[in-house]
Amino acid sequence: MVVIASDHAGFPLKEEIIETYFKKNGIEYIDAGCYSPERYDYALSAQKACDMVIAGKADKAILVCGTGVGISMAANKVKGIRAACCSDYFSAKYTRLHNDANALCFGARVVGAGLAIELVDVFLNTEFEGGRHATRVDQIMRIEKGEKVYE
Ligand code: RB5
Repeated sequence: MVVIASDHAGFPLKEEIIETYFKKNGIEYIDAGCYSPERYDYALSAQKACDMVIAGKADKAILVCGTGVGISMAANKVKGIRAACCSDYFSAKYTRLHNDANALCFGARVVGAGLAIELVDVFLNTEFEGGRHATRVDQIMRIEKGEKVYE
């Protein structure tokens, strides 16, 4: 299960991803809003979607705002979330392979629908490599817990 959410700036792209990617490919999704182009602040959608990931209702979140930056900052404040703001294919792939990212963020004012769908597709279909990368992801999570990870 994947949860998708946006603010007002990301709303039209969120709708397009739902229609032309999730529905056409039979992908199960939760639409955590917003539900109209009326002003809706990105921190609200970020927290709502990320809470669903942490609660186990979804495996991953797709988050869209104007730049992708604000919504990724908010998402990364939710404990357990590793959100990556990506506007290129390589980063969207490697943030799964190396960072085990569980939220992908991008900006509707930065990427077009075609690229956005490629980003979502590679993000959802790439597995974490583990190994030495697991050690590094663990270090990130230890920082989140307030531990000092450097000598
Ligand atoms: C909304 O105008 C815009 O600030 C927001 O979508 C996002 O780009 C913030 O990072």
